Amino acid sequence: MESIQATKQRFGLIGDDPKLNRAIEKAIQVAPTDISVLVTGESGVGKESIPKIIHSLSHRKHGKYIAVNCGAIPEGTIDSELFGHEKGAFTGATQTRNGYFEVADGGTIFLDEVGELPLPTQVRLLRVLENGEFMKVGSSKVQKTNVRIVAATNIDIQESIKKEKFREDLYYRLSTVDIHLPPLRDRKGDIHLLFRKFASDFALKYKMPTIKLDDDAVKLLENHRWGGNIRQLRNIAEQISVLEQERVITAENLKEYLPDIGSNLPAVIADKKKEGDFSNEREILYKVLFDMKSDLNDLKSLTMKLMEHGNSEKVRNENESLINKIYGDEDDEDGESEELTAEKLEVLQIPQQSPKAAQKAESDKYYFAEEIEEEETLSLHDKELELIKKSLERHNGKRKAAAEELGISERTLYRKIKQYNL
Ligand SMILES: Nc1ncnc2c1ncn2[C@@H]1O[C@H](COP(=O)(O)OP(=O)(O)OP(=O)(O)O)[C@@H](O)[C@H]1O
Ligand SMILES: [Mg+2]
Repeated sequence: MESIQATKQRFGLIGDDPKLNRAIEKAIQVAPTDISVLVTGESGVGKESIPKIIHSLSHRKHGKYIAVNCGAIPEGTIDSELFGHEKGAFTGATQTRNGYFEVADGGTIFLDEVGELPLPTQVRLLRVLENGEFMKVGSSKVQKTNVRIVAATNIDIQESIKKEKFREDLYYRLSTVDIHLPPLRDRKGDIHLLFRKFASDFALKYKMPTIKLDDDAVKLLENHRWGGNIRQLRNIAEQISVLEQERVITAENLKEYLPDIGSNLPAVIADKKKEGDFSNEREILYKVLFDMKSDLNDLKSLTMKLMEHGNSEKVRNENESLINKIYGDEDDEDGESEELTAEKLEVLQIPQQSPKAAQKAESDKYYFAEEIEEEETLSLHDKELELIKKSLERHNGKRKAAAEELGISERTLYRKIKQYNL
């Protein structure tokens, strides 16, 4: 049996709290069986890694792994998504379609936010769980499937049962084994460990020195409530990594990033906090835009050279660093999907909206993008100026280091210094 430590390493899970270890141990123990598992815990505690552990340590590991977010599929289409439909079953059903339970035959289905399933779907699910039988929507033919089910919820299912929103028999069938992930505030010993890991990840991602908390900041971090758990901790580590100039973070600095801390303070401070949060998001967006602009400039300059001299070895050699900068580290952006391919897991992307709605969102997106460009050009320049100034200050006026941090060439930085009269 794979050890808890090895599993944590394989799935990038940080922490050594006994409650976390017990949850992982349970996942390892049930993996070789076909027992249904219900993963419970607050939002952001890491529930999504449990079904992946179970699948990849089971005899189904070469079969399909499909994650379905039950809360994101409209009530009208969920039965058809899960169980498929016959041609002509409803308006628009022009072809027979196989559902996830048929596609995942021999594999594992992860039903995330299972508490959101509508009652009629719960009845169908109960039947699959009991004898592996289901029927496509609009069909009377009983089909068989062999699927292992892992479900997760962050709501209190007992409460839903009381309100008759969730079937009690389904709950017992799903939760043959219950794996509970503790909230972050109940595993205080892991908080700083996780923060250090995220800080080092973001330092690498943004090519900046790693932030470090002083002793008081560590205390504050460990005693915070962490309503959004690990997801919130990660977001805050990212914000601080990008926005703080000083790399040693004090409790005072940290306080500004902890949203629920202001709630007991006078209104004036709470207001200021709100504004701060908003501007933080803007600053991150500006940084992203700035990075994109600098990539675009690099591409422009490379294209010019290619047009002048053609795709010759000379051009490639002379511009090696530029080419590496533009195309260099694209591959390791998305660690998670890489890990999944490595494990030969197959995760289907679950469509969350109809193609029509997606098309509309797409056209809206561009419309929105155009609007933004018009309005924000001026302040984007201000922001760019500010970022350059801050970076130069941080590096005592050293252009090379500042250019590196900003992700632009020294020449571009020099041009901008002239342009802004710095
Ligand atoms: N032990 C851990 N070590 C490192 N990162 C973790 C750990 N647990 C969770 N994470 C990270 O925290 C984030 C939230 O985890 P996840 O998406 O699994 O939460 P969840 O419990 O499914 O929340 P929700 O109920 O809101 O869907 C993810 O980015 C995940 O990679
Ligand atoms: Mg989740």
